[in-house]
Amino acid sequence: MPKIAVTRWIPDEAVQVLGEAGEVEISPQDRPLTPEELRKFVAGSAAVVSMLHDRIDGSVADAAGPGLKVVANVAVGYDNVEVSALAERGVVVANTPGVLTDATADLAFGLLLAVSRRLGEGERLLRARQPWSFHLGFLLGSGLQGKTLGVVGLGQIGRAVAKRAAAFGMRVVYSGRSAKPDFDGEFVSFDELLRRSDFVSLHCPLTPETRHLVDADALRAMKPSAYLVNTTRGPVVDEAALADALEAGEIAGAALDVFEKEPDVEPRLLERDDVVLTPHLGSATVETRTAMAVLAARNVVSVLAGAGPLTEVGR
Ligand code: GLV
Ligand code: GLV
Repeated sequence: MPKIAVTRWIPDEAVQVLGEAGEVEISPQDRPLTPEELRKFVAGSAAVVSMLHDRIDGSVADAAGPGLKVVANVAVGYDNVEVSALAERGVVVANTPGVLTDATADLAFGLLLAVSRRLGEGERLLRARQPWSFHLGFLLGSGLQGKTLGVVGLGQIGRAVAKRAAAFGMRVVYSGRSAKPDFDGEFVSFDELLRRSDFVSLHCPLTPETRHLVDADALRAMKPSAYLVNTTRGPVVDEAALADALEAGEIAGAALDVFEKEPDVEPRLLERDDVVLTPHLGSATVETRTAMAVLAARNVVSVLAGAGPLTEVGR
């Protein structure tokens, strides 16, 4: 039976699927493996089921050995995988698109509401047992109706967020590599999106082109009343520049689910009431995490059976 190395806990349903194709070995560590541990753990495996915190490069493929056929990343994003290095070694890379679209769009919209209606601030006030009473000027936020949402990267998740925004009476503009003629929203340049949006929500993948896409200049281009929402990958935003922009009043607030150096967060952001922070929970529902792991497992089974991957990543 070929060895299938799983770098961290996955739901039982997915372990069962993998069991059809080989001997499943799950890392016993309840933490990300170090690069050395990872190379040792994958030795001799035909398939690796990886998490977004694992850096999977040529050295990991070499450590696995020539029998390695497939890396199935349990995430839609695959910036942690050096796809070209694996392709050179004949290794297929799969991700988990589709199954996490709604969960991630729900979280992005939840963050948008949380930051614009100051939910975290209100909750912290109560938990601190601060005195309060209803009054007309208390903890006022910003309404959504008639406001403009700027979607950066109109992929599946960006579209799902746009759909939710429409239901809340928002206008939608979007930027990206190309206009999507089937989408009912205005295609604009990234600069125009920054200038026009009341909410900017990031849904582009992390690539060399999108690293620090939201930098000091981009933040300065936003309206002082605008909010930034990030549920894609931390390095798309320059976190230090974001803290500077908030301190200077260049934008009204930010809601972040992802960070440049997870699990660390820029300390100045932790101090601010106009920032909502969640620990990379975009796809974190029971249903979605199960579907992601099962899809990754099915990719492994399919490749090891010689049938090719179900959801191979773009190269
Ligand atoms: C989660 O961040 C994913 O890419 O699936
Ligand atoms: C860019 O992310 C696009 O989808 O065009």
